[in-house]
Amino acid sequence: VLKSEFAPRLVQWQRQHGRHGLLWQTREPYRVWLSEIMLQQTQVATVLDYYPRFVATFPDVQALAAAEEDAVLGLWQGLGYYSRARNLHKAAQQVVNEFGGVFPSERIELERLCGVGRSTAAAIAAFCFNARETILDGNVKRVLCRLFALDGDPANKAFEAKLWTTAEALLPRNAADMPAYTQGLMDLGATVCKRLKPVCAVCPMNDICLAHLQGRTAELPRRKAA
Ligand code: ADE
Repeated sequence: VLKSEFAPRLVQWQRQHGRHGLLWQTREPYRVWLSEIMLQQTQVATVLDYYPRFVATFPDVQALAAAEEDAVLGLWQGLGYYSRARNLHKAAQQVVNEFGGVFPSERIELERLCGVGRSTAAAIAAFCFNARETILDGNVKRVLCRLFALDGDPANKAFEAKLWTTAEALLPRNAADMPAYTQGLMDLGATVCKRLKPVCAVCPMNDICLAHLQGRTAELPRRKAA
């Protein structure tokens, strides 16, 4: 029951209760990629302060690739983790020089871009190209640890591999559902299945979530070993 119910419920929930109207909810890979890099270590509210100026200054990947690095770093000022800005600039040049100015549609190729790891590549592929690829960021790890009452150490490589496999097994059958599903994973973790005080009463998975059924949401996911 659990595995086959998850995707349809999440898609339906995202459409009714998820976040809509965010500036980067588009199928344009350049804009999705830029937003995902900004959102890796920065809150939505802060990104909303930076993203529009960045897009106005560099409206497409060609413009970004042609910019001076200092101009990119200048627009990044205040977002922190400046290696992200340097990688962004390098990746734009990779898209222009190695991919003919067109973002690749496959996750494995997107992963070749500087600063783009597996989860970011999956987000771009799913949002823009309906690819059946799963994201797995900290929020999604928490959702999965609770759903299946998995008490492994999230810093452990073998356990992380198990989470990737678990996440892949939950993907929707219908590729057309991938954008809503992927946004739903992000929205569920951010607004319902929060680390502190998860709001299980409104969760679409509360009848199948093992951590909730066992009263263990406070202890899952397990704290990182020191
Ligand atoms: N965090 C990372 N990606 C996001 C997105 N697309 N929407 C909201 N929060 C996010």
